[in-house]
Amino acid sequence: MATETLLVEQRGAVTLVTLNRPQALNALNSQVLADLLTVFAAYDADPTQRCAVLTGSEKAFAAGADIKEMAPQGVGDMFGSNFFAGYDLFTRTRKPVIAAVSGYALGGGCELAMMCDFIIAGDSAKFGQPEIKLGVTPGMGGSQRLARAVGKAKAMEMCLTGRMMDAAEAESAGLVAKVVPAADLLAEALKTAETIAAMPPLAALAVKEQVNVAFETTLQQGILFERRLFHGLFGTEDQKEGMVAFVEKRPGKWVGR
Ligand code: HXC
Repeated sequence: MATETLLVEQRGAVTLVTLNRPQALNALNSQVLADLLTVFAAYDADPTQRCAVLTGSEKAFAAGADIKEMAPQGVGDMFGSNFFAGYDLFTRTRKPVIAAVSGYALGGGCELAMMCDFIIAGDSAKFGQPEIKLGVTPGMGGSQRLARAVGKAKAMEMCLTGRMMDAAEAESAGLVAKVVPAADLLAEALKTAETIAAMPPLAALAVKEQVNVAFETTLQQGILFERRLFHGLFGTEDQKEGMVAFVEKRPGKWVGR
């Protein structure tokens, strides 16, 4: 399946979504957003799919929001259309989404990668928030998510200078989960996705909600939220199966109930 700007492929229980605007280094225009929302809503709704990988090309995950689309816009256009607020819907995808980043992830591209649940980077990856060079700032969550991921010092420095961070620095700073040789990126991301796809799916949904709540609430509230979700999973068939299978020394078989 494909949309105007995305390639979509189901590999078993893993959905692979590839940004496909090579002529613009996968710059994110309004069509990309519309297509992402369509594709990820379908992913969430499809019970055969358990994990997604979002990737770009070898040269660019995405080189930012589409500057040519934004250039003529006035404040009334941006405010009136609530420009790119639709990405809030993308972040509400309930099932796991891994970003597999090779090459440039700049501006909105870095922000899109950070909206995913975690990032696996090829060793050629370059992350940055260069919007200041265009007379603007991050506008899709970069100032907030980068600060949470790498801390104030590096986030502030990157957003103020527009400099790029390479894959090794991104890993040591905590922006990416792991770095792999660029040539192995897709295979490694798909392998990780298959591991997640083989987990009990309700527990995977719960983990995603738990970790995300850590960024929205106090420690005490977050721990209570975690405990209640943990308790709730004791009402599922997969919990019974998982614990019995452990005792019987065999792999569990998940039904997602
Ligand atoms: C539109 C873009 C683009 C972008 C690249 N292209 N980035 N088009 N929007 N963000 C286009 C170029 O115009 C060019 O097309 C083609 O892609 C190849 O790019 P080149 O610049 O020729 O490639 P190269 O010399 O290899 O340089 C790569 C690059 C550079 C370093 C990544 O393209 C670059 O600096 N891009 C802009 C990065 C950026 O500022 N991103 C932040 C955008 S603002 P043509 O047809 O002209 O040859 C943003 C705001 C987010 O993201 C918040 C929104 C709410």
